[in-house]
Amino acid sequence: MIDDGPSSIVRLESMNMLPTTTLTEENPLLAGLRLERIPAPHVLVIFGASGDLTRRKLMPALYRLATQNLLPAGFTVVGLARRPWDTQKFRALLEESVKEQTGDLSPALWRGFAEGIHYLSGQYDDPDTYRRLAALLARLDAERGTGGNRLYYLATPPTLFPVIVQRLGHAGLTESPGWTRIVIEKPFGHDVSSARELNSLVQQVFSERQIYRIDHYLGKETVQNILVFRFANAIFEPIWNRHYVDHVQITVAEQVGIEHRAGYYDQTGALRDMVQNHLLQLLTLTAMEPPVAFEADDVRDKKLDVLRAIRRYDIQEVERYVVRGQYGPGWIMGEPVPGYRQEPNVPPDSITETYVALKMFVDNWRWQGVPFYLRTGKRLPKRVSEIAVQFRRVPHLLFLPEESGNIRPNVLALRIQPDEGISLRFEVKMPGPAVQVRSVTMDFLYGQAFGVRTPDAYERLLLDAMLGDQTLFTRADEVDQAWQVMEPILEAWEHLPPPVFPNYEAGTWGPAEADALLAADGRRWRRL
Ligand code: BG6
Repeated sequence: MIDDGPSSIVRLESMNMLPTTTLTEENPLLAGLRLERIPAPHVLVIFGASGDLTRRKLMPALYRLATQNLLPAGFTVVGLARRPWDTQKFRALLEESVKEQTGDLSPALWRGFAEGIHYLSGQYDDPDTYRRLAALLARLDAERGTGGNRLYYLATPPTLFPVIVQRLGHAGLTESPGWTRIVIEKPFGHDVSSARELNSLVQQVFSERQIYRIDHYLGKETVQNILVFRFANAIFEPIWNRHYVDHVQITVAEQVGIEHRAGYYDQTGALRDMVQNHLLQLLTLTAMEPPVAFEADDVRDKKLDVLRAIRRYDIQEVERYVVRGQYGPGWIMGEPVPGYRQEPNVPPDSITETYVALKMFVDNWRWQGVPFYLRTGKRLPKRVSEIAVQFRRVPHLLFLPEESGNIRPNVLALRIQPDEGISLRFEVKMPGPAVQVRSVTMDFLYGQAFGVRTPDAYERLLLDAMLGDQTLFTRADEVDQAWQVMEPILEAWEHLPPPVFPNYEAGTWGPAEADALLAADGRRWRRL
């Protein structure tokens, strides 16, 4: 059976997206059920199970889901990788990393959870690996009642995606009495043509309804909240447009360097690693029109419209609107750190960018003329991500400049991480006989408001893939458009003379050209 779309023991919606009437008045019985989203029993097959992602992200997320009773009875994991491990060794390694990542492993719960974990060693291109996988899956279906439901997860380097998908197809592993789905990690291609090739290859074996392309930013609570904030409140939507918004700044700043990932990163760079996916996703959620319903394709159609409306620069314009940088040696938290070219396995003359700042336009009725400034970089002074919507200045100043100082425009900041929250800056009168104006902020903090741990993005995304909900996954056409936006930049960079790198010190806010990009418009980056 191929996929079906949403599936679970009971079809359960994301609770916070439902109108309150559904929850409390019309259907109190369903309200209780909707809190529980339990997928149907299935086997999760992780390709690349010996890797970092499995240990650091996937397994801790699965364990957390287990602790919240969100996994079905009989839930089973098959880890597949080349290393000659066995199930016992795999379980022991996972136990260690889950303990390390979650900090609170319950031995009793782990025992039960680990019983469902298996390991299969094999080469990804060897048909025999897939024959053995098929036999193991059939056995597990019988033993654990997983009903032929399979979720394949590609957590390998991207060069292996094609061969795994093809072998799964040849081995008939895409057909089973239950549903089959495939989750594909980023990067999905490295330019338009490679992404198209990969899309067409995957779509020969799986239908689009079965394909879950991950961008883990979409699984973050604060990112999901962008839509709720915009479309569950009446007061923001009327001003969310070119008449009231002066510009938008999207920052994803990282303090870390490239963390032993030179092999991947030096081939990739910040534009492909962060902008094409995470930053463009943040931009689309900020700029999209309201969808008709909170359903996967309604949401993704509207996001696609934004991507299609982003102005494509001519190759000659790229230098004016896009700044790239690479960090040199510097200081982070009082410690000296090496420059990018001094990182292990990075060529000493590498021209890979570790920082990008861009000015973009969304050419449609809502956003015509409103610049969206995006920036991201490694080895910046702190880890901080936010979307700041800066509104226009007041049209006329009533108060004397000497008393009111410099009246600042309102800013609404959606703080993605780490201090998750939302703040609104506005002007007030300082107490006293004169009319003195000052800026204050009104703050909402997730931690304070809810007092609960914010789930990791992978918890949500794994659960959604198990439930058959594609809303937070990128569709083929979205990925394609996002690469189309990047294409002129990549092309221009290929033809321009090599940049003079390094051009920012580790621990600073990026190259001076990034400041000049905004200064040319009479603006500046927010101090974060
Ligand atoms: C990944 C990038 O997709 O996102 C990394 O490959 C980056 O280079 C990471 O560090 C950032 O994710 P987060 O969730 O820590 O902001």
